[in-house]
Amino acid sequence: MNITVVGVAGRMGQALVRRLCAHPDLRLAAAVARPGSDALGEDAGVLAGAGASGVPVTDDVAAGVAVAELVIDFSTPAASRRVLGECLAAGKRLVIGTTGFTAGDLEAVSEASKHIAIVLAPNMSVGVNLTFKLIEMAARALGDDVDVEVIEAHHRDKVDAPSGTAVRMGEILGQVLGRDLEQDAVYGRQGQVGARARSTIGFSSIRGGDIIGEHTVMFAGIGERIELTHRAQSRDNFVTGALRAALFAVDKDSGLFDMQDVLGLS
Ligand SMILES: NC(=O)c1ccc[n+]([C@@H]2O[C@H](COP(=O)([O-])OP(=O)(O)OC[C@H]3O[C@@H](n4cnc5c(N)ncnc54)[C@H](OP(=O)(O)O)[C@@H]3O)[C@@H](O)[C@H]2O)c1
Repeated sequence: MNITVVGVAGRMGQALVRRLCAHPDLRLAAAVARPGSDALGEDAGVLAGAGASGVPVTDDVAAGVAVAELVIDFSTPAASRRVLGECLAAGKRLVIGTTGFTAGDLEAVSEASKHIAIVLAPNMSVGVNLTFKLIEMAARALGDDVDVEVIEAHHRDKVDAPSGTAVRMGEILGQVLGRDLEQDAVYGRQGQVGARARSTIGFSSIRGGDIIGEHTVMFAGIGERIELTHRAQSRDNFVTGALRAALFAVDKDSGLFDMQDVLGLS
């Protein structure tokens, strides 16, 4: 399968290129970076530390999409909007790993998925997606007897908060517990905030160093608490998940899928 990677100068883009350069069945078709990026014109494999790939880094999204059977996008919401439009116009499958989308963006993704196959997952890790399932099971069993809090930690360069994965965990809690993040989410606390409302779904974000990604959901009851934690040790797990998503999507004509679908957990 010919795969175009968007965001190729970034941390995830480079990890993907390294894996694709060594993959027996998947091929790097094009490598797209930001217009004006220092990486433009460089060999994508060399840039990623994988040796020459023969694929130069370009900022031409339309040309990159044209030569792909499937596009994998780990970039920024603004870049992803453009990629979505090009994939829709060209009828190409798309795996979106980028986070930080607005509700309007997600609506556009959903609309586009009526015509093309899209896998959208704020966290492509197999372990995280299993943790999503465990959170759902725990929330079902514990119900309103416990207070639920989501705590996440990421590296100092992450620009959005809470992480897309933390938001997804909050959404799962909201769905199972019959709560609405619009009204019930509390993001950090400071000063005289008063006693905790029982319906609260709390979010705390830590930023520092080179933490790749840690998420804990705490179910705090009277006399005991349960904490479900996932820790990413490298970006390789996201790459593995993204390539599983690509292999899942390759025979789909349209539809919006997540990693629960990819992993058969839905
Ligand atoms: N779903 C998951 O499992 C998962 C896992 C990890 C990360 N993520 C998400 O994936 C995204 C990327 O993460 P990262 O850690 O790789 O971040 P990163 O290192 O900042 O990489 C993002 C890259 O996108 C590039 N970019 C910006 N505008 C672009 C454009 N118009 N066309 C092409 N590329 C463009 C940036 O280029 P410049 O550097 O030149 O500005 C940068 O190289 C983030 O949203 C992150 O939250 C998701």
